[in-house]
Amino acid sequence: MKIKFIHTFYIFIIGSLFTLTNCADAGDDSDIAKDTELGSPIINSATNVTSEGFTVSWTRVYNADGYELDISINEDFESFVVGYEAKSTTMFSEDVYGLDEGTNYFYRVRAVSSTEKSKNSGVLQVTTLEANGPELTTYLKDTATTFYVGMAVKSDQLTDGSKYDEILKNEFSSISGEYEMKMNIIQPTKGNYDWSKSDALVDYATANGINVHGHALVWHESTPDWLENYTGTDAEFEQEVKDYITAVLTRYKGKVTSWDVVNEAINNTDGSIRSTVFSQKMGNDYVAKCFQFARDADPDVLLFYNDYSVTTDITKQAAIFNLIDNMQTNNVPIDGIGFQMHIQYNSPSVAQMETAVDKVVDRGLKLHFSELDVRVNPDKDITELTAERAVAQKNKIKEVVEVYNAIPTENKYAITIWGMKDDESWLLSFYNNYNEWPLLYDTNFEIKKAHTGFLEGLK
Ligand code: GLA
Repeated sequence: MKIKFIHTFYIFIIGSLFTLTNCADAGDDSDIAKDTELGSPIINSATNVTSEGFTVSWTRVYNADGYELDISINEDFESFVVGYEAKSTTMFSEDVYGLDEGTNYFYRVRAVSSTEKSKNSGVLQVTTLEANGPELTTYLKDTATTFYVGMAVKSDQLTDGSKYDEILKNEFSSISGEYEMKMNIIQPTKGNYDWSKSDALVDYATANGINVHGHALVWHESTPDWLENYTGTDAEFEQEVKDYITAVLTRYKGKVTSWDVVNEAINNTDGSIRSTVFSQKMGNDYVAKCFQFARDADPDVLLFYNDYSVTTDITKQAAIFNLIDNMQTNNVPIDGIGFQMHIQYNSPSVAQMETAVDKVVDRGLKLHFSELDVRVNPDKDITELTAERAVAQKNKIKEVVEVYNAIPTENKYAITIWGMKDDESWLLSFYNNYNEWPLLYDTNFEIKKAHTGFLEGLK
């Protein structure tokens, strides 16, 4: 895949350089008459992409009388789409019709004059859209054989025979509680544990052979009021935290494979330790302390640090890995890192993801893409999920899965999707009920192109 891209890019650059050279020559009057070679057009990315065509455009070439467009389904132009072998035009663009849906096409153009032809432009590619929705041909968990495919769930979705239940059993091999395994739910008032919701999740998973990732033991946004406004001493506060972690890990020993021990301890942008009731009362090394409490309670459970914007906020990324390095140097037990991956259709780039992922692998840790959703409307510029945005979302998910799948098996853990259906995503209320479609299933439990993107990323 990478080789193909580099190759295309190389051709494109060469074509571009060639044109630039010619344009420069053309600026000098005395050279024009002597210059017998036509420059190549620079070809633009296709626009107006539909299931049966697209628009190609290119730059005007000095001294050209017209242009010839080639379209092929292979990069080497061994054969041509009927009607598009040296398709002649005097315009600088061409509306292309009659193509197959969901198909990858390559295109290039050259300039022609009465006496000669230019070299070809660079080669670009475009994929036509699928006319109908994608078909469910394979279940996610059956294709991902080296890691879990997880879903964030709520206990009231798990009724036997519900649509959620059906999809979960078919498609997903792991669950995370969307919010019901957090401290404000499990210990809402001091000393009173309410296991009803977390037990429901764990019992469902156990009964159905599904893995459970525990999320999250310590998070400043889910601290119960009694602990947030704690009136005891700092030592007593720390003991409360230790007792809580110990109680939870003891209850779910052997049933919950892994826990996010601390969620979101690092500030955005400046990478400092976030000031929370935990840092204030236990010191900035509260993260390390919590990991040790967890390990003391359960020697076998996998312990993760979890945070967001890890691939895109470089200062934060450095701070997180600094925190991890300090923990590893001091023999604080940590097994893995969760990148939440609340991302967008146009960000992060593959390079950004690879850079961050490599840092996890370098440290011998497991990686969890722990809360994946892909916003298609971050700029609020669409009012329905357009076909183009759906494809962009599909491509981003594919990239995410490809990057993840490429790491060594021993560093893999799970990719967890943060919610089943588009209309139930936390993003809708978080961003004041705007239009968003960030998940793999639509409102009617139908799979989206994003789902196909996940499967394609595994190939
Ligand atoms: C953060 C938390 C999650 C969840 C989301 C919003 O990412 O880690 O537990 O609360 O916010 O759903």
